[in-house]
Amino acid sequence: MQLRRLAVDDYDTVIGAVDEWWGGRPMAVMLPRFFFAHFQPTSFAAEEDGRLLGFLVGFRSQTEPAQAYIHFVGVDPAARGRDIGRRLYERFFATACDLGCREVLAVTAPINSGSIAFHARMGFAPLPGLATTPAGVPYTLDYDGPREDRVRFRRTLPDPGGE
Ligand SMILES: CC(C)(COP(=O)(O)OP(=O)(O)OC[C@H]1O[C@@H](n2cnc3c(N)ncnc32)[C@H](O)[C@@H]1OP(=O)(O)O)[C@@H](O)C(=O)NCCC(=O)NCCS
Repeated sequence: MQLRRLAVDDYDTVIGAVDEWWGGRPMAVMLPRFFFAHFQPTSFAAEEDGRLLGFLVGFRSQTEPAQAYIHFVGVDPAARGRDIGRRLYERFFATACDLGCREVLAVTAPINSGSIAFHARMGFAPLPGLATTPAGVPYTLDYDGPREDRVRFRRTLPDPGGE
């Protein structure tokens, strides 16, 4: 399995798979083609024998250059549990560090317990929210619009100049 930058040519493959990869939730609408065209330096694909097994779409904040943001990560259900998500995140962390970022942000739906567990393993902590999942994870109601609640995650990056 190799990692490479995401390419515009990956768009059709990803869009054809994401709803299924998210267990039937309609996700494709949140991934317009421009992400594949204009965020390539911070977005990655995991590939094996020419087959796309996973992808990450992320970027450095234009507003807060010390912050990086992961918008989407997905791994083919048949390839989960092989550290592909971890490797995609680690590549993003290293890239963000090289760009001078000091923290990474991400959000996920409170019902997505797998994503919440994955982010915890990747070193993220949930930011405060007024609501709480049954497992005790805080989240923010209507964060991305009506009934679009989100757990907001933050992870610090190592100081490149530190010991
Ligand atoms: C979340 C997702 C990206 C994880 O990808 P993956 O390649 O299977 O994850 P990895 O094999 O790299 O796992 C890394 C760690 O997270 C843990 N983890 C991953 N998925 C988990 C799950 N569903 N439940 C509990 N722990 C999980 C692994 O056990 C591993 O922990 P470890 O440090 O103890 O070894 C994948 O399940 C997925 O695509 N889900 C659907 C899309 C989604 O929800 N994306 C996130 C929101 S944008």
